[in-house]
Amino acid sequence: MTDGVWAAPGRVNLIGEHTDYNDGFVMPFALPHTTVATAARRDDGVLRLHSADAPGDPVELRVADLAPGRRTGAWTDYPAGVVWALAEAGHRVGGLEVRYTSTVPTGAGLSSSAALEVVTALALNDLYGLGLERGPLARLCRRAENAYVGAPTGIMDQTASASCTEGHALHLDTRDLSRRQIPFDLAAHGLELLVVDTRVRHAHSEGAYGRRRAGCEAGAAALGVGALRDVSHEGLADALARIDDAEVRALVRHVVTENHRVERVVAHAEAGDFRAIGPVLTEGHASLRDDFRVSCPELDLVVDSALAAGALGARMTGGGFGGSAIVLTESAASPAVAGKVLGAFEERSLTAPRVFTAVPSAGAHRVS
Ligand code: GLA
Repeated sequence: MTDGVWAAPGRVNLIGEHTDYNDGFVMPFALPHTTVATAARRDDGVLRLHSADAPGDPVELRVADLAPGRRTGAWTDYPAGVVWALAEAGHRVGGLEVRYTSTVPTGAGLSSSAALEVVTALALNDLYGLGLERGPLARLCRRAENAYVGAPTGIMDQTASASCTEGHALHLDTRDLSRRQIPFDLAAHGLELLVVDTRVRHAHSEGAYGRRRAGCEAGAAALGVGALRDVSHEGLADALARIDDAEVRALVRHVVTENHRVERVVAHAEAGDFRAIGPVLTEGHASLRDDFRVSCPELDLVVDSALAAGALGARMTGGGFGGSAIVLTESAASPAVAGKVLGAFEERSLTAPRVFTAVPSAGAHRVS
């Protein structure tokens, strides 16, 4: 049945958290972990989906019947949502047979959902000759996630999966989707970025993410701006003085300082001063923990134990409430830092986290 094989990666976000639904800046890079789709066109209007991770019979859906009201809560909502979003946007897509395999950890804040969406969209784009560029393709995947799956996420993950390039971090303006590839070869500077998956699982479609988002919108409304992106770092103190609600004030403070942190990290990377990124990551964690309140004890434990072991910086990454943290360390110190983090979890009888070194990898592509 094969007409082709496509791959789309998960991502890790270096800096710029909870800024993407505020029209702000983010700086993710693609992981070597991918979701691979082996796919072929079908002429009978049927979407037939198999996954190596969901053994059992393939799921069959009629493309013409897909609608947000028909979501099932299963993994198949993601590819079904993509097909629906493409059709809704006026693209002529028919049936598809797909087999998925994936090495992207699920529920770890590393965008396994975006990888699944983007690989599906890319396969359809090629098989049906839709001619979509990466930006619009990512937008349609986000539409699938928001309207079909029902998770109110921003555009970062889908864009990262679709548009990252090997050896680079992506500096993305989520307002106009303009992007720049920033060379990010930590190894050449004697550094490593560890990803520590706490194995504490999160779920975005649950209320906490949506409440943060609503709080940010309330902040923008109170300040009379379209989005918090429009509040400058210089104008932050004045802006905060105009917000009565203490919770909203804290959310606004996070978003505005986080956008500024993205600019600082980009400047350090462009100057080749990668060690200077460490403290900015750690500041970002404090802001997510104290102002945005999306961390959890396990994520804080990774950050605290890594810093105590001499890491240059550390923070939670992704949506939060569990998932993964990142740790910037000298390569020579990396085993000791990882050992300390694991030891801290063991001492507290917590499930051992999964630790790996993240290397900026390729975005979505056709394999064959
Ligand atoms: C999740 C969402 C993204 C973004 C992050 C937080 O990963 O999918 O759109 O909002 O959380 O930065």
